[in-house]
Amino acid sequence: MSFTVAIDGPAAAGKGTISKAVAAHFGFAHLDTGLLYRATGRRVLAGEDPVAAARDLQPDDLQRDDLRTADVAQAASRVAAIVEVRSALVDFQISFARRAGGAVLDGRDIGTVICPDAEVKLFVTASDEVRAERRYLELSAKNADVTRAQVLADVRERDARDAARDAAPMVAAQDALVLDTSDLSIDAAVARAIAAVEAGSP
Ligand code: C5P
Repeated sequence: MSFTVAIDGPAAAGKGTISKAVAAHFGFAHLDTGLLYRATGRRVLAGEDPVAAARDLQPDDLQRDDLRTADVAQAASRVAAIVEVRSALVDFQISFARRAGGAVLDGRDIGTVICPDAEVKLFVTASDEVRAERRYLELSAKNADVTRAQVLADVRERDARDAARDAAPMVAAQDALVLDTSDLSIDAAVARAIAAVEAGSP
């Protein structure tokens, strides 16, 4: 039997951490759908056409260790506004969501477009400043040469593009539970997400 947990929200809101913890707790599979767009964006930075890159995406593309950079994040957000790129990635996400045994997918349009019938929908968010600080600490830990101001500008630019695009814009589904993690510890945020999934279970 399938059971889908859709987790959407803006950049660096904690979706990834929460999704992994929820998946581990319930024994569900997890798909970080941002990786599909990052892998496509990275191939575009290497000179490929966006639509051809999305149609030809291979499992190895998702395993690369250079997908978490600021350049790739921006490239991902640009290719993600192209309808044909999104269409090329839809079927994989839908089959993943409906696999037997349960699945957690995190992204921007999971509860609205990919799985409008998901059993549980969360929209995880936090203030711009908190999200930028978290991303800054993450990047600094990897020795990336960035300033707090750059990271804040980057996060805001990406969110604005993701929310304003015509194709599957980032927006909370009407039936999503909004989880603001600005003042929550990781453990507290994960506990709330797990409670939401338990409440949505048959
Ligand atoms: O989640 P992450 O920050 O890795 O996503 C990178 C970019 O991929 C986002 O800024 C967004 O433009 C795009 N994306 C999307 N739809 C998804 C997941 C990610 O448009 N479901």
